[in-house]
Amino acid sequence: MSVLSDLTHLVERGFESSGLDAAYGKVVVSNRPDLGQFQCNGALAAARQARRNPREIAGSVVKEIAGDSRLADVSLAGPGFINLTLTDEAVAGYVSEMADDSRLGMPAVSDPLDVIVDYAGPNVAKAMHVGHLRATIIGDSLKRLFRFAGHRVLGDAHFGDWGLQMGMLMVATRERLPGLPHLDEGAGGPYAEPPSITLADLQQWYPDIAARVGDDEELAGEARRATRDLQSGRPGYVALWEHFVRVSRESQERDFADLGVEFDLWYGESTVRHLLRPMVDGALARGAAVRSEGAVVVDVAEPDDKTEISPLILETSHGAFLYGTTDLATIAMRVDELHADLVLYVVDARQAYHFEQVFRAARRTGLAAGAVLEHIRFGTMNARDGTPFKTRAGGVLGLQDLIGMVTGAAVARLEESDLAAGYPEPERAKIARQVGVAALKFGDLINNRTSNYVFDLRRFTSLEGKTGPYLQMAAVRMGSILDRAVAKGFPSGPPMPPTVEVERRLMLRMLQLPEVIDRALDLRAPNHLAEYAYELASDFSRFYEACHILTESDPPRRASWLATVRTSRRALALLLDLLGIEVPDRM
Ligand code: ARG
Repeated sequence: MSVLSDLTHLVERGFESSGLDAAYGKVVVSNRPDLGQFQCNGALAAARQARRNPREIAGSVVKEIAGDSRLADVSLAGPGFINLTLTDEAVAGYVSEMADDSRLGMPAVSDPLDVIVDYAGPNVAKAMHVGHLRATIIGDSLKRLFRFAGHRVLGDAHFGDWGLQMGMLMVATRERLPGLPHLDEGAGGPYAEPPSITLADLQQWYPDIAARVGDDEELAGEARRATRDLQSGRPGYVALWEHFVRVSRESQERDFADLGVEFDLWYGESTVRHLLRPMVDGALARGAAVRSEGAVVVDVAEPDDKTEISPLILETSHGAFLYGTTDLATIAMRVDELHADLVLYVVDARQAYHFEQVFRAARRTGLAAGAVLEHIRFGTMNARDGTPFKTRAGGVLGLQDLIGMVTGAAVARLEESDLAAGYPEPERAKIARQVGVAALKFGDLINNRTSNYVFDLRRFTSLEGKTGPYLQMAAVRMGSILDRAVAKGFPSGPPMPPTVEVERRLMLRMLQLPEVIDRALDLRAPNHLAEYAYELASDFSRFYEACHILTESDPPRRASWLATVRTSRRALALLLDLLGIEVPDRM
């Protein structure tokens, strides 16, 4: 039981005893700490409902609960606010319960769901770039959060490996390597020697052909035919495609590893390719899809649509399946084979229309069954001028270069502040990477995910303020206090009632953890974790400055402070883990 839920219970009973609905008793952390630690504003709404005077209601609730032994003070303020303050004994009691619990007072959910987090979405032939960064960082954090809550979670990269891009790559290959046996229509393979086409080649070929297909109807037709031929299993194309998939994936997995991100499933759009034909035919047979101008579509318009939502095209008049077709079949696979209850699509807000169409089509065709499908949209990472982040030359910045950039900035920061000085070189390099990646991730996750934000290397890598490196330093410092205490033979003991305000504040802050985690889960919003981690670390630093733990002469007080350090460290470590941020052993 958290403090807030206990206090809410108490105040709910106060409302009930005053003849009112318990639901008015919700207690929140006070926004006026000078008046009380917690507050309940329910009397105002209750008064409107019951046509009574709010002050009179609040006064009656206050009288009902005033005798509770956990409360040092309960008072009525303003038009009917109820302010509550805990006794220091109660604060210590709650912290002690938290300290004794392996999950810091947050039981795992009793009805776990099967959750799939679809995130990152890398594509064949494209090295990952900043556009994939937010999806990767936010998706990974949500995966960790849902898993911590106790759900059964699978993270899936949903590799982009089966659309029109594949046909374009076949055409590009024909232009560059016309003699390649894989391109012979008649030949049936086998194709023992993998063609020596590297990811670097593909990355050059792809943007070039994609741009030309846009203005050249003939070339576009060729790409469509090649896509269709690949999708219907032409052996040379399949062999080439397998090669493209392999070289792309190898490089992308390295990028993800550098970010500390791992997937449980590396399924692709192609994973469901055997389901596409039967799905489309089945939908046609059931009348859920119809033929329209040679294509097969699902009408997804709804009566109260304010803007027109056009039908989702399952199969083009040229016989090709599209991005939405594989998305729809993937929903069927996730529901039927992975028993998904909830699927979170962590994808750029610019794909909102696509997901609206796909989710509607999934409902129309009955393929979603009871699963909940959510598009977890996010804004873009911009340069200082407000345009999407690019290289100096105007190209899209590769993820590898970006990681190199933040790691370089972290090295400079560490040198500037004399951190990690004198450590062996491999350890320094590791710390720099951890700090750089933390800067990048925190710089992203601290923002409300739907907003755009500005990539600011100087600010992100700063060791002060709301940054990843600041929080890493705080965690390292907490650890080092605990290590030094162990070295001196100082035990940590039961938390005692706080005696100074900074200590009380830190303890109360720690007690907010369960609600913060709940809010982040409900809103699918890691920024609440990030914000709170920063507040916790700042309260800790004020506590640490005022209370000289290792030189404290009273052993029970020192032991109690060490318990507070230990529990704050566990809370901060949990939060950083949920944000996907590693804490170096030392800095
Ligand atoms: N590969 C896609 C892209 O780069 C993102 C995939 C998102 N996930 C999905 N199920 N459509 O745009």
